[in-house]
Amino acid sequence: MKDNFAIILAAGKGTRMKSKKSKVLHQVCGKTMIQYVVSQVKQVNLSKLITVVGAHADDVKSVIGNQTEYVFQKEQLGTGHAVLQTEKKLGKLNGTTLVLNGDTPLLTAKTLKKMLDYHRECNAAVTVLTAWIDDPTGYGRIICDNQQNIKKIVEQKDALPQEAEVKEINTGVYCFDNQQLFAALHEINSDNQQNEYYLTDVIEILQRAGKKIAACQINDFQEALGVNDRIALARVTKIMQKRIDVKLMANGVTLIDPSTTYVDSDVKIGSNTVIEPGVVLKGNTSIGCDCTIGANSIIKDSQIADGVEVKCSYLEQSQMDKGSDIGPNSHLRPQADIGKRVHIGNFVEVKKAKIGENTKVGHLTYVGDTTLGKNINVGCGTVFVNYDGMNKHQSKVGDYSFIGSGSNIIAPVNIEDHAYVAAGSTITNDVKAHDMAIARGRQVNKVGYYDHYPVAQQVESK
Ligand code: UD1
Ligand code: MG
Repeated sequence: MKDNFAIILAAGKGTRMKSKKSKVLHQVCGKTMIQYVVSQVKQVNLSKLITVVGAHADDVKSVIGNQTEYVFQKEQLGTGHAVLQTEKKLGKLNGTTLVLNGDTPLLTAKTLKKMLDYHRECNAAVTVLTAWIDDPTGYGRIICDNQQNIKKIVEQKDALPQEAEVKEINTGVYCFDNQQLFAALHEINSDNQQNEYYLTDVIEILQRAGKKIAACQINDFQEALGVNDRIALARVTKIMQKRIDVKLMANGVTLIDPSTTYVDSDVKIGSNTVIEPGVVLKGNTSIGCDCTIGANSIIKDSQIADGVEVKCSYLEQSQMDKGSDIGPNSHLRPQADIGKRVHIGNFVEVKKAKIGENTKVGHLTYVGDTTLGKNINVGCGTVFVNYDGMNKHQSKVGDYSFIGSGSNIIAPVNIEDHAYVAAGSTITNDVKAHDMAIARGRQVNKVGYYDHYPVAQQVESK
């Protein structure tokens, strides 16, 4: 069997995106477009995979890493010129070369494999992946002769009115006989509306030389959507989201209203978990089985174990262990590590803190730079005061302790196991195991104060 090679074109500036970064680095459901393309192409049996980089080359390379080889296209003179840059690496080899664009993130490995098989069956010099669409605006048109054989591809900007009406388009994916590709590339010129060296002109050159040109039609046009602007980016994102949703639901996840939830492509969710409307799950997040992620929660780069309930809360770079719950309206900031069956109620913020199993932090509390043991009760309105204006300090509370409401625990402080802190205390010293600390001003009642307070009396008499 012949060797297969692949070239991904990713050197373009992406002018129509009106962006400071490379087009192919724009994200679709949490992953760059080029990552999708590379991960699909890599599933095809290849002996060489080359990415053509140019604009923002270093950024593109840092995303792809060593998954492909690279060639550099110094000036972006068109797709044909881009492919020609690989000649040194590929030109002398025998085999089939798959060429595709870095801006088609929905394209699947299945379609690429099917196309390669078709190309081999047809024994063609080139096979073009084409699609029929109602609105072909922006795509190259497939121009056929009377026998429906492909004659050439005409770009939108160069198309005659009758050519522009053609609804069969070029998806930008091709299989070439490698040697014939490079021979033809030397014949293309930039004599067109965009003054570019079009890869698509290779088709006409090969056709004129009497070579066989095949068309492989794609059933699902959505796969071939090329992202050239932000409108297409939104469209592609919607389709990708649908794919992600369908896969999750097939694996036993309930999405109550998939049209309002956003789940990034690498997020993992276990079966029997319910995702309520308005939930956003981003980045490197995993959620276990039997969880409920309540309406309007946002979870980013966090690990959630089985049986966790999240009510309308914001979690980032945190973890929650089995059976714990949080919310409504609470915030886990980076390095919040929530133990088994911990209860975190409403308006609680946790940052860089470990909370042991069965501990309860019910209301209006800040836990930062703190280690809480197990089976602790932290009363309403407690503040772990961690910052002196210059440095952060650590606090520690031992197992089975009780922190009364409205306490300030001023770090660094160590409260041992089975200790009590009376409500309203400001704790600045360590508390020994089994002791109680009370640290607040004594109450003084002034007898008959009102009667001797003339301003209050004047207000009442008005
Ligand atoms: C291209 C095709 C068009 C097809 C469409 C499918 C050409 C001339 N036109 O148009 O027929 O319908 O794709 O989506 O090929 N690039 C480089 N170097 C360059 C220019 C572009 O590497 O000098 C890369 C871009 O980064 C991009 C890809 O090639 O990933 C395609 O370029 P783009 O400008 O998006 O071409 P389209 O106008 O979409
Ligand atoms: Mg494009």
